Amino acid sequence: MDKPFDGAISRFYEEEAPEEVREALRNAGKDDISSPRFPYPSRWKRKEYEAAMDALQVELVKMQAWVKATGQRVVVIFEGRDAAGKGGTIGRFRENLNPRGARVVALAKPSEIEAGQWYFQRYVRELPTAGEIVFFDRSWYNRAVVEPVFGFADAEQVAHFYAQVEDFERMLCEDGILLFKLWFNVGRATQLERFLKRENDPLKQWKLSWVDIEGLRKWDAYTDRIATMFERTHFKHAPWTVIRGDDKRRARVNAIRSVLARLDYPDRDTAAVCELDPKIAGGPDLWPR
Ligand code: ADP
Ligand code: AMP
Ligand code: MLT
Repeated sequence: MDKPFDGAISRFYEEEAPEEVREALRNAGKDDISSPRFPYPSRWKRKEYEAAMDALQVELVKMQAWVKATGQRVVVIFEGRDAAGKGGTIGRFRENLNPRGARVVALAKPSEIEAGQWYFQRYVRELPTAGEIVFFDRSWYNRAVVEPVFGFADAEQVAHFYAQVEDFERMLCEDGILLFKLWFNVGRATQLERFLKRENDPLKQWKLSWVDIEGLRKWDAYTDRIATMFERTHFKHAPWTVIRGDDKRRARVNAIRSVLARLDYPDRDTAAVCELDPKIAGGPDLWPR
């Protein structure tokens, strides 16, 4: 099968990637983490991961039963650079949940009609009703990061977003919605490694888009926008949880724990939902500048 985009990713790797990123990829062994500054040298062992994940699946099911029984509304937003592991983590959250009551929302770029509406409007339409959990695969934070990086939104639109987002999220919380904001971080070498795999895997090529290809060159522009986003949107009422995603196993387990730990469902297994690994999950100070 042909590589999509004429092998643009391999070409970027060979011709444009910073030398330290290339070197990191050349030196990484099979189970190594590619990005050199990740706090662990290698991935979690499969056994350890599966034991932790199996226990968490039981907790998620209990949590959903509580959400339904008590009419809670839960929103979990998944943000992060491309290939940070948002999609895979959403999959693990949902694996054993009743799909009636656990929805994924992954909106395409705004249609002409949506582009003419209040920016938050199409997201509001997707908010949960009583008993529902909604997972947003990307969210209104597109306006803070991807859209300005690519020029899909101008400075005025971005400023307008920042003027509204604090109150917007406050209204959700005051109305009783349980809002979680997860940011998946990924190192540059890890991101490139995952893109190269996608380029070569016919089952994963759908995940690639020209935004990803162009995004490879815009790493620093992303970094600036992400820094601003954390400075301005880490609210008391709606804080960010940063998850280091270079090891997908540690990331998925810590992401699920970070949500379960803040929900008050009965009969919690405190061994399964034990404390977070502070090197993997925490506040925006975990995010490397
Ligand atoms: P994903 O990583 O979610 O598979 P992409 O990397 O292709 O998708 O795009 C990143 C985000 O940018 C998506 O949420 C997409 O809807 C958004 N996007 C793409 N093109 C536009 C556009 N012209 N205007 C606004 N948003 C866009
Ligand atoms: P990098 O080496 O920049 O590609 O980043 C790889 C991973 O290491 C990232 O996912 C971060 O979680 C982590 N990391 C990078 N820089 C730092 C830093 N200065 N302090 C702590 N962790 C970092
Ligand atoms: C993933 O790995 O699922 C990503 O975060 C989704 C993407 O590539 O945009």
